[in-house]
Amino acid sequence: MPFRRLGPSGLRVPVFSLGGWLTLGGTVVGDPVKEIIKIAFENGCNMFDTAETYAKGKSESEMGRAIKELGLRRSDLVITTKLFWGTKSGPNAAGLSRKHIIEGMQASLQRLQMDYVDVIFAHRPDPHVPMEEVVRAFNYVIDKGWAFYWATSDWSAREIEEAYHVASVLGLIAPIAEQCAHNLFNREKPEKEYAPLYKKYNIGTTVWSPLAGGLLTGKYNDGIPADSRLANHGDEFKSAVESLQKEEGLTKIRKVKELTKLAEGELNCKVTHLALAWLARNPNTSTVILGASKPEQVIDNLKAIEVIPKLTPEIMAKIEAILDNKPTPVPTHGRPPLDPFGRL
Ligand SMILES: NC(=O)c1ccc[n+]([C@@H]2O[C@H](COP(=O)([O-])OP(=O)(O)OC[C@H]3O[C@@H](n4cnc5c(N)ncnc54)[C@H](OP(=O)(O)O)[C@@H]3O)[C@@H](O)[C@H]2O)c1
Repeated sequence: MPFRRLGPSGLRVPVFSLGGWLTLGGTVVGDPVKEIIKIAFENGCNMFDTAETYAKGKSESEMGRAIKELGLRRSDLVITTKLFWGTKSGPNAAGLSRKHIIEGMQASLQRLQMDYVDVIFAHRPDPHVPMEEVVRAFNYVIDKGWAFYWATSDWSAREIEEAYHVASVLGLIAPIAEQCAHNLFNREKPEKEYAPLYKKYNIGTTVWSPLAGGLLTGKYNDGIPADSRLANHGDEFKSAVESLQKEEGLTKIRKVKELTKLAEGELNCKVTHLALAWLARNPNTSTVILGASKPEQVIDNLKAIEVIPKLTPEIMAKIEAILDNKPTPVPTHGRPPLDPFGRL
């Protein structure tokens, strides 16, 4: 397993980590959680990602229980969780107020049965809380030893910039990473909007939904198989299910089929491996967070490691030609371009 530094920090993270959204503590409970974590760890994947909101806290408690029962040494693991949505209702039970960050952090640690996490993520930005309060609260969490680093998830480049600015002015610790959606079909934010942040702050991404929820495995090419995410969570993914019948979804399926031909014909691998290796090849990706409902999926997905060096410039060009969705970088780095007279 190759390891990379998480953004500008000294923390080494595996190129492929494992997350628990919908799966661990959700559709997967009990011993199977242990099996998935065990197989991942035995194959070099020692980083596990969860969130207070996943299965209303059950993802954290199931992952914590499994790790404890497996007897894994805490210092051998990188554990990340995320705060924002909370697990209960009430005006102060969610968001990024100092109150929820501190109370939420304590509740997460209790569920995980751990003294600390390695990275605590702000699961979303909170426009209702002053940025200074957010930065100070995450620094308090770090000072208390409840987390070693903090990071953002699904923030805009503008919001990340503000957090850096506030931290710099106050002499505090800034976020080290952004957890964002990135896959062959979802590229604008990580490849275009964040481009200046990689250069200025060296932030890294911890990529989520790398297989677009399974679409990039080819499992939805001929409809929705039983016991798949779209079958098990039909209500939650109603629009994704509907889109498979529409032009947008059909175009994606056509591209998955073309990518499959390329993967099998020229790389001797599955389209799944091509999709994961393509993300790992991006130097701004610190770790690709895998999702798996079965241990076999972990084993299968980790085969992508062998495909990373096969992605030569020629193969990358062929992938781009099939996708035809490369974001055009804006010379102003995300700010609106000026017109020929220099006006916005
Ligand atoms: N920060 C955020 O806002 C955010 C949002 C979403 C996710 N995340 C994180 O990112 C992690 C990964 O996201 P994701 O689960 O959406 O990732 P994904 O890789 O796009 O989808 C994973 C799902 O695809 C299917 N799959 C995976 N490997 C397969 C294989 N080899 N063959 C067939 N099917 C396969 C499985 O679903 P089925 O078997 O059920 O079909 C699996 O649960 C999450 O667990 C979470 O930690 C973060």
